[in-house]
Amino acid sequence: MTLNALQVRILDLKKEKDAIILGHNYQRKEVQEISDFLGDSYGLSVQASKTKAKVIVFCGVDFMAESAKILNPEKTVLHPNLKAKCPMAAMVDPESLRALKEEHPGAPVVSYVNTSAEVKAMTDICCTSANAVKIVQSLPDKKIIFVPDTNLGLYVQRFVKDKEIILWPGYCPTHVNITKKDLEELKRKHPGAEVLVHPECSPDVIDFADHAFSTEGIIKHAIASPKKEFIIGTEENMLHRLRKEAPGKVFYSSPNAACPNMREITLEDVRDALLKMQFKIELPADIIKRAKVPLERMIAAGR
Ligand code: 13P
Ligand code: SF4
Repeated sequence: MTLNALQVRILDLKKEKDAIILGHNYQRKEVQEISDFLGDSYGLSVQASKTKAKVIVFCGVDFMAESAKILNPEKTVLHPNLKAKCPMAAMVDPESLRALKEEHPGAPVVSYVNTSAEVKAMTDICCTSANAVKIVQSLPDKKIIFVPDTNLGLYVQRFVKDKEIILWPGYCPTHVNITKKDLEELKRKHPGAEVLVHPECSPDVIDFADHAFSTEGIIKHAIASPKKEFIIGTEENMLHRLRKEAPGKVFYSSPNAACPNMREITLEDVRDALLKMQFKIELPADIIKRAKVPLERMIAAGR
């Protein structure tokens, strides 16, 4: 892979500042190319928790950069573009969560990592799409509050029939745009293709798919599968990594599957982040202290 001048400049600045660049699987192709690690929310949290670098440049949405700061309060965590915010994470606020907890006294709160630091601070254990089922299964409680993604909560409910999951009306605007009709159309054109989707998709899309996985799970499965063709129901930038890591296989993306928030971060933003040490994630010490507990439990649970 040949890097352009701006990418080379970023790699030089990264060395100079003792920085690591963590990039989510939905980042623009050119940002993926300069990332030290690419991954899903779980994998990036693990990388953030064990890096030795002084500075973490987080190319992903707000809650991911906040999680990196919570796990590493002593490090400088830079979020290159403050417009890269996850709308789903903004769908649950501390006041409403407090009211829900009062309605269901004693029920533990499982928060999807797509939440604010303040909500994490009120949470018993966080999860990602890679370990949501495992985490809910591991809890002894029969009633569990699950925020904010209804679709992920409904997906988890399929595997824990003996528990009552109290859902929250949050959703991902990108994944609810992925329709069964669009996937059926692709399957008609490519009948031999395996359909892989993200659990943030609606239940009818998950029913239609062969498998639902986290973004990293989709990549691992596509590499290992004997199938040669795949229909992908998640953000279409995933196809860069899929094509690179599974050469010889063919990938078709569901239409209208772009997350505009993830795409806010450009190479210029990453360069400026390193040049100007911007935009630093700052969180109150007490929030960091409380939010770290459920995040560390999430990491300890594994995938
Ligand atoms: P993953 O943890 O599967 O990468 O998902 C993050 C996300 O924001 C999906 O929309
Ligand atoms: Fe948030 Fe959805 Fe974008 Fe993921 S794809 S960052 S859940 S808006």
